[in-house]
Amino acid sequence: MTTANDIRSTFLNYFEKNEHAVVDSSPLVPRNDPTLMFTNAGMVQFKNVFTGAETRDYKRATTSQKCVRAGGKHNDLENVGYTARHHTFFEMLGNFSFGDYFKDQAIEMAWNLVTKGFDIPQDKLLVTVYSEDEEAAGLWRKIAGLSDDKIIRIPTSDNFWQMGDTGPCGPCTEIFYDHGDHIWGGPPGSPEEDGDRFIEIWNLVFMQYEQIEPGNRVDLPNPSIDTGMGLERIAALLQGKHNNYDIDIFRAIIETCADLTGVDADGDQAASHKVIADHLRASSFLIADGVLPSNEGRGYVLRRIMRRAMRHAYLLGARDPLVHKLVPSLISKMGGHFGELKRAESLITETLKLEEQRFGRTLEKGLRLLEGETDKLGGKEALRGDVAFTLYDTYGFPLDLTQDILRGQGRTVDQAGFDAAMAEQKAKARAAWAGSGDQTTETVWFEVKEETGASEFLGYETERAEGVVSAIVADGKPVLEAKQGDKVSLLANQTPFYGESGGQMGDMGIIISAEGAEFKVSDTLKKVDGLHVHVGEVTKGDFKIGESLDMLVDGDRRTKLKANHSVTHLAHEALRRVLGDHVTQKGSLVAAEGMRFDFAHQKAMTAEEISEVENIVNRQIRENSSVATRQMTPDAAIEEGAMALFGEKYGEEVRVVSMGSSDTETKSGVYSTELCGGTHVERTGDIGFFKISNETAVAAGVRRIECLTGQAAMDYVNSHDAKLGEMAAVLKAKPLDVADRVYNLIEERKKLEKEVADLRQKLAVSGGGSSNKQEAKDVNGVNYLGRVLSDIPAKELKPLVDAMKKEIKSGVIAAVSVSEGKGSIVVGVTDDLTEKFSAVDLVRLGSAAMGGKGGGGRPDMAQAGGPDGNAADAAVSAIEAGLVG
Ligand code: ALA
Repeated sequence: MTTANDIRSTFLNYFEKNEHAVVDSSPLVPRNDPTLMFTNAGMVQFKNVFTGAETRDYKRATTSQKCVRAGGKHNDLENVGYTARHHTFFEMLGNFSFGDYFKDQAIEMAWNLVTKGFDIPQDKLLVTVYSEDEEAAGLWRKIAGLSDDKIIRIPTSDNFWQMGDTGPCGPCTEIFYDHGDHIWGGPPGSPEEDGDRFIEIWNLVFMQYEQIEPGNRVDLPNPSIDTGMGLERIAALLQGKHNNYDIDIFRAIIETCADLTGVDADGDQAASHKVIADHLRASSFLIADGVLPSNEGRGYVLRRIMRRAMRHAYLLGARDPLVHKLVPSLISKMGGHFGELKRAESLITETLKLEEQRFGRTLEKGLRLLEGETDKLGGKEALRGDVAFTLYDTYGFPLDLTQDILRGQGRTVDQAGFDAAMAEQKAKARAAWAGSGDQTTETVWFEVKEETGASEFLGYETERAEGVVSAIVADGKPVLEAKQGDKVSLLANQTPFYGESGGQMGDMGIIISAEGAEFKVSDTLKKVDGLHVHVGEVTKGDFKIGESLDMLVDGDRRTKLKANHSVTHLAHEALRRVLGDHVTQKGSLVAAEGMRFDFAHQKAMTAEEISEVENIVNRQIRENSSVATRQMTPDAAIEEGAMALFGEKYGEEVRVVSMGSSDTETKSGVYSTELCGGTHVERTGDIGFFKISNETAVAAGVRRIECLTGQAAMDYVNSHDAKLGEMAAVLKAKPLDVADRVYNLIEERKKLEKEVADLRQKLAVSGGGSSNKQEAKDVNGVNYLGRVLSDIPAKELKPLVDAMKKEIKSGVIAAVSVSEGKGSIVVGVTDDLTEKFSAVDLVRLGSAAMGGKGGGGRPDMAQAGGPDGNAADAAVSAIEAGLVG
C-alpha cells in the first residue's frame, strides 16, 4: 500500500525535481497574521511573499503544511464525524510560485503529477475553472487534452479563493476525481454536487490580487501560484478508499481506540472513533505548536476540540482518560515527518490527560442534567439558554458541545437566553471587582480585559509576531490613539512580549505599525488575568485601535533572560545538593544582566561550597540536555518531584519545566523540575557558563547569591584574571604564585615594621629622634627628661618612655609626638618617685597646654592628647613646672 508518508514524499520530491525549495510547514499559530486564528492553508506562511512585502531566496517552493480549520473563515469543526472528508486538522500539500511560473506551468506540473506520478487514470478526472477565466480552460484543453464537458465553468466564489476577508486571492481551478456511478452525486456546479461521487483533489489558485479591505482589491506585484491538495484525500484515493478516515494514518489511531474501548471500529459507533481520531490529531499538533487549553482565544478552540473528543470517548464507554493513550499511535504514523510531535510527546500526553481528568469530573453529571432537561422538552423544542449556560459555567460544556449533543435529537439551544445568562454573570463579576477595594487605577485593566479579552502570549514559541492594537491606556484611562512623544501602555490581541512575573523581568523591544509608526517598549507588565501591557513611548507616527502591528522582542536581551532563568533552576537544585534539602527559594530576580537567588540557609557559604555549586551547574550546562515543558495539576507536578514555592497559590493547572540529566535517583529521572511560567533555553548548553559573583545575607536565615551566565560570566572571570595578571606582573611572579608572594610580603613587612620601631626607640632613647636635644635636667632635685619627638607614632610612645625610664633609673619623662597637627603625650614616673608625683596628674598638665582635657593611666605611666600640636614644647614646660609646684 502507498502510505500517506510515501505520498507526501512523492509530492515534495516531484516539486523539488522541478526546482522548488522544500520548505518546512509553518506552525499552526500564524506568526505573520494576527487576524487569523490558525494556519488554514499552505499559502499562509507565504502571504507577505505574494504581496511583495517579504522576499525569500527562492521563487518556487513546496510544502506539506499543517492546517487547522476550526474557528475563523474556514471552519470544519461542526462537520467532523458526519462526513467522509472533513477534518479539523489536515495536511495540505502545495506548490508555490512567487512571480515565477503562472497558469500554464502550474497546470502542466499538476497534470503530470496526478496522471504520471500518482498514476490516476485520465478518464476519471475533470476540472473546474472560474467562469471568467477562459485562459485556464484553454490551457486544460491544450495541456491535458480535456474535452469541454470535462472543463466545468463555475461562476461562484467556489472558484475564487480567498484566505480570509483580506489577503492575497485569485481565481482558481480545481481537479476532481470521479469515484464512479455506484456512488451518489453529480459533477461540480450540478444540483447533486454535494454528493460523494465527484471529489475535489487539488486546488490551483492563480494569485493575482490582494484584498486590502472589503470592496478594495488591488493587483499583486507579480502573478503567482498557490496550490493545495489535501493529503488525506489523495491518500484515500490512492489507497482505494472512499472515506478519508480509512487511510493508514487514521486507521492506526482508530484501531487502537477500538482495542482500548472494545467497541467495533466499523460498527454503529464508527463516527465516535472518527471524531476522536480527528480531534486527537488537531489537539496534539496544536499543543506541539504552543497552544494550551484555556477559556479564551485559541486555547478555547483547543479545549472545545478536546472536550468533544472526550464526550465521544464517553459514548464509547470509556470512564477513565482514554484519548491521551492514543498519542503513541499518532506519533508512530506522523512523528517521522513532524519531529515536533515527538519532542512534545510528554507535553501532549499530559495536557490531554489533565483535560480528561478535569472534564471527566463533570462530564457525566452534566450529561445527566442535560438528559433530565431534554426529557422535559416536547418535540423539537430548543433547550433553555440558562440550562446551556449552567452546563457551560458549572460543568465545563462548551456551547458547541451542547449543540452537538442536541443535534442528534434535532434540537437547538436558545442562544439569546444563553447570551443573557453570560452577560448577567459578567455584570456580577464586575460588581464584585468594583467592591473588592482594589486601587481605582487598577480597575482600568479590568475594564480593558472586559472589553478586549486576554492578550494571547506567543512568546514561548517566538520573539516576533504580528498583532492588532486592542487598547491604549494613557494616564490610567483608555484612549483611542497615541501620538509621537506619548508615553502610554499599548495592548494587542496577541503578543510575543513576556510580561514581568515569577521573578523574570518583562521584555523590551519595538512595535511597528503597518503605517510605519514606532513604539519603543521599555517594559512589559502582566495585569489582570493574562493582560500583557506594553509600557513605552511612541517614537514615530501614531497608533490607533485596530491597527496591525509587527511586534519584535529585543532578542539579545530575551536570550540572556532565558539563560538566567534556566540557570536559576539549575542553581536551586545544586544548592539543595550541596547545602541540604532545607534550601528553599525565598525570592529571585531574573534580569538580562544576571540573576539573584534568595534561599533559606543559616550561614554564609564557604568558598568550597560556592565552587561546588558552580561545578554542578556547569556540568549540567555541558551535558546540554533538552529543557521540557508540560502542563499538569499542581498535585501531579509535586508528585513528580517538582519544586513548588511553599505557601504560593497555584491554579488548577501548572506549567512544569524540567531540565538536566539526573546523576542521582530522582523520581522523574531529570535533574530539576519546577513549576514555572517563565521563558527558558531550549537546551542547557545555551546557558554557556555559570559563575557566582557574590554571596551575602539578606535577612536572618536568608542568603543571597548573585550570579552571571554566558558572556557576562566570562567577562567577570576575565576581568578577575586580568587583575591577577597585573598583580603577577608587578610582583614579577607567576599568577598562581601571587598569593604566596603576597603572604611573604606581608610577613616581611611585619618584620620590617618591628625593626623600624626598635630602631626608632633606640634612636629616641639616645636622643637622636628629638628636636630639642636636651639631656635630662635636674628640676627641684628630680631628673626630668622632656622631649618633643617627630616621626614617632603615638602608639610607640609608651614603649619608648619605658625604655627611657630604664635609661635614667630615677626621674620623670615626658614624650610628646605630633601627627597631623595634633599632639600625643606620655608621661612616665620611675617607681621610686610615684609617691611624690603621679604620671596621671602630670600628663593632664601637658594635655591642657595643648588644648586637651583629661588623660589617663597609672601613677607610673599615663597618656593623653591635645588638639594643638604646635604647643608641644609648652606641654613639656608645663609638666616641668608641675614638678616644681
Ligand atoms: N490556498 C488554496 C486552498 O487552501 C490552495 O485551497
